[in-house]
Amino acid sequence: MIPSSSKLLFRPVTQSDLPMILAWRNSDHVRLHMPHQEWITPERHERWFQSVVQSEQHHYWLFGPLGSEAPIGLAHLKNHSPKDRCAESGLYIADPGWRQQGWGLAAYQDVLSFGFQELSLLWVYAHILQTNVVSLAFHSKLGFQTDGPLLQKMKTPEPPPQALRMVLLRAQLHQIKPQEKME
Ligand SMILES: CC(C)(COP(=O)(O)OP(=O)(O)OC[C@H]1O[C@@H](n2cnc3c(N)ncnc32)[C@H](O)[C@@H]1OP(=O)(O)O)[C@@H](O)C(=O)NCCC(=O)NCCS
Repeated sequence: MIPSSSKLLFRPVTQSDLPMILAWRNSDHVRLHMPHQEWITPERHERWFQSVVQSEQHHYWLFGPLGSEAPIGLAHLKNHSPKDRCAESGLYIADPGWRQQGWGLAAYQDVLSFGFQELSLLWVYAHILQTNVVSLAFHSKLGFQTDGPLLQKMKTPEPPPQALRMVLLRAQLHQIKPQEKME
């Protein structure tokens, strides 16, 4: 199952994508914005791929502008719990040259809509570094909230050190029009 989009092409990760994704994930442009900042070895990367490639619990997709061959980023819904109807969401755009043009927002809306509609999720959560003001603003823009008393009751894993948990209820997803910059 793959998110559908009027602006972007999503596709699953394949073995041949691994060197590109490893280079992206280890680059300072991505690594330094993540709660887990350690350098990832090729062996660990391969283990990650084997653990997610046919898993029903973890969904990873490469995405890029429709009509362009090269993907620009990676998005996920992982740790999907059908029982609790929740999953952990996230995404990055690898090359900063593609950022701040609306692509991240468009891709995340597609991924979240997929989660709520196709996976029947009731909420998603994201772990975000406290210092990642861009990601905090990005998530807030889509309706994510930092935990309040109600959200404390939802069972999700504790965020890593220095990270915050933000939660988005299905009914609270903001629909934002694509930016003109993306045309
Ligand atoms: C977070 C990220 C995915 C945003 O993608 P993007 O395509 O640049 O974001 P968009 O252009 O769609 O912007 C959407 C909103 O995000 C926020 N945002 C994006 N860039 C921002 C910046 N440099 N400063 C402040 N807010 C910013 C704003 O709220 C923006 O809305 P606005 O344009 O109306 O102000 C991208 O910056 C990225 O990949 N960062 C590195 C990895 C990362 O932090 N991922 C999230 C880990 S939890």
